Amino acid sequence: MGIPDEDVAAVRAATDLVALIGEHAALKRQGRRWVGLCPFHGEKTPSFSVNAEQGIYYCFGCQAKGDAITFVRETEHLGFVEAVRILAERSGIAIREDSDGGRDARRRNELLEVMEQAASWYHERLLQGRDAGTARDYLRSRGYDGDVVRRFRLGWAPDGWDELCQSLGLDPELATSSGLGFVNRAGRLQDAFRARILFPICDPSGRPVALGGRVLPGSPDPAKYKNSTETPIYSKRRTLYALNWAKQDVIRVNEVVVCEGYTDVIGLFGVGVERAVATCGTALAEEHVKLLRGFSSRIVLAFDSDGAGQAAAGRFYEWERKLELDVVVAAMPVGSDPAELARTDPEGLRRAVEGARPFLQFRVERILDGADLETAEGRARAADHALAAVGEHPDDLVRDQYLMQVSERCRLDPLLLRRRLEDLRRSGPTGGTAGGRHGSGRAETADTTGGYGGVWQEDRSGGPGSRRQPAFETQLGGSHRPRGRGPGEFRPGLEALRLAIHRPDDILPRLDRALFRDELQRMAFDGLIGSADLHHAIDRAPLEVRELLVRLAVEEPVAEPEDVIVQLVRDVARAELALVVSEARGAPELAREAIEMAARVQELDDPAASAEATDRLLAWLVVRSQMSGAGRRS
Ligand code: UTP
Ligand code: MN
Repeated sequence: MGIPDEDVAAVRAATDLVALIGEHAALKRQGRRWVGLCPFHGEKTPSFSVNAEQGIYYCFGCQAKGDAITFVRETEHLGFVEAVRILAERSGIAIREDSDGGRDARRRNELLEVMEQAASWYHERLLQGRDAGTARDYLRSRGYDGDVVRRFRLGWAPDGWDELCQSLGLDPELATSSGLGFVNRAGRLQDAFRARILFPICDPSGRPVALGGRVLPGSPDPAKYKNSTETPIYSKRRTLYALNWAKQDVIRVNEVVVCEGYTDVIGLFGVGVERAVATCGTALAEEHVKLLRGFSSRIVLAFDSDGAGQAAAGRFYEWERKLELDVVVAAMPVGSDPAELARTDPEGLRRAVEGARPFLQFRVERILDGADLETAEGRARAADHALAAVGEHPDDLVRDQYLMQVSERCRLDPLLLRRRLEDLRRSGPTGGTAGGRHGSGRAETADTTGGYGGVWQEDRSGGPGSRRQPAFETQLGGSHRPRGRGPGEFRPGLEALRLAIHRPDDILPRLDRALFRDELQRMAFDGLIGSADLHHAIDRAPLEVRELLVRLAVEEPVAEPEDVIVQLVRDVARAELALVVSEARGAPELAREAIEMAARVQELDDPAASAEATDRLLAWLVVRSQMSGAGRRS
C-alpha cells in the first residue's frame, strides 16, 4: 500500500499549506512567514508559524510540527496514505498506488460530490420550481430576498417521493449512505427530505456535507426541522452551520457568535454581524469549541431568550480555562431569538452582541433581575439562588467578586455569604444545573459531556501554565520566538542554519561543519548539506534534529549571510584560540601558531574586516577541525 516517493513529493509541492491550514485556523502574514493561533492547542497569543515556501508548520507553544501531510493526518486522524490521497485530490494530482487503498478517500469524495449535486439541485428548485412558489413566498415573508437565498444556497425539497433520487440517478446504496434517501418498507427508494426548505450545511471550505430542512407553516409534519443523518463526511459534533461563510469575519474581529438555529445565523448576517454560526440540532460540544478555537478566542453565545441561562455552565468555564478563551453571552429579550430580533429590532440585536457579558455575570444578573428584592425573604431567596450559580465557577477570585455583587444587591453581609458559598460548594457537586432545555424534547439533542476522538487533538501542552519548553530550546539556552527577535539578536549558529534553509544558495556552499560547535546544530547542518532538499533532510534526521529543522523552517532569518558567517567564524575562532593558547602553555612549539591566530582573530574584530580575513580564518578552522577529528579517530 505504498505511494512512490516522487508522487508524495509532488503532492507536497502542489499543496498550498497556508490555504490548507487556513481552513482550520486564522493565519496572518508576518514577513515571509504566516502566523496564527495554534489549531492544536488553546492559546491567546499566536505561536503557530507556517513557512509557505517550504510547506512546513511549527508551533512554539505545543511543538506541533510537520508538513501538509502531517497536518491532514493530525487534524483528520488519518493514516499517511489517506492523507496523501486527500491532498492529491485537492490539488488535482494523480498518484500511483496499490489498488486496495483509496477506498475511504474515494468514498468521501463520492459523498461530497453527491451532496454538492443535491445542494445545487435543491437550490435550483427553490429559485425556479413552479412548486416552490409557497416556499418563496414564505421566505419573502421572513425578509429573505434573492440575495439571501443565493448567499446561503437555500433550497426546496419538493413534496414528491423520489424526485431528487430520480433526477440525480442515485442508487439506493449511495442515496442511503449520503442520507439523501432511504428505502421504504415497500422496498422503494424515497427522498429523505420532502416539502421542506433546505439549509445546506458545509464544511469549513464550503463543500456541502449535510442538509437541514424546515417545514412550511401549517404543515402536518410535527417535526419543525429535520437534519441529515451522520455520514462519513458529516459529524454533528464537529460541524457548525455557516462557518464557511463566517470564517473571514470571525478571523478579522477575533469573535464568533454561536446561535442555535440556521435562521438565527441568517438574521445576524442580515444585520451586519457576519460572524455567526450555529450548531446543527445539537447542543454546543467541546469539539465545536475546539474547532472555533482555531479561528477566534472569544465566543459570543446568542441563544434563544433564555437558552444560555439554562445551559450547563460548568462546561463553559471548563472550556474558558482549558482552551484559553472567553465565553460571553448576548442577552436576548424574553421570548425571542436572534432571527426574530433581526426583524423586529436590528439595532437591538447588534447591541446585544456588542454588549455581550461574561457568562457568570449574565447568569447572576438574570437571577437578581428576576427576583423579588423588596422583601427580606425575597432577597434571601435571590441570594441563595445567585450563590448557587456563583458557586459553579472554578476560580475563587471570580467567585468572590460576584459574591460582592450579590451582597450589595441583596443587602447581605459578605462574610455570611462567603460561609454560605463555602457550604454550598462542599455539599453539592458543581455544575448541578446541567442539562437544561436542550436536554429534553429534541430527539437529536446530544449530550456533550463525552470524551474526545474528535478532529482536534488534545492539548499537548498539558494545560496553561505547564507549557513545556522544547528540548532544544532548553538545550541551547534560549527561546527564539520569532516575534521577539530583532536584527543583531540572533545566535549565529542557529541563524546560519535558518539561512541555510531559507536561502540555501546564498550560504550553504560557504558553510562548514567546523563552524557548528553545538552538536545538535552540527547534525542539522550535516543533514542539510547531505540531502536533496529540506523535506528530504527532515525525513532522514533523528528526532531532535528534525524538531530543530522544522522550527527553523518557520522562523525568518533576520541577518545577512555575510554577517552571520563573520560572527560564526569569530565565535568559533575565539573558542579555538583559547584552546590553542592553553595547549601552547605546555608545548612551546605551539606558541607561534597561537600568536598568529590571535592576530587573525583580532583582525576580524575590526568592523571593516575583509572577506579574505574571514576566509583565511575559516580555512584554518576547517583544517584544525579535520585534524582534531582525525586525531580523535586514530
Ligand atoms: P428553533 O425551534 O429555535 O427554530 O430551533 P429556529 O431556528 O428559531 O427556526 P425558525 O426561525 O423558527 O425557522 C433551533 C434549531 O434547533 C434545531 C434546528 O437546528 C434549529 O435551527 N431543531 C429545532 C431541530 O433540529 N429539530 C427541531 O424539530 C427543531
Ligand atoms: Mn429559535
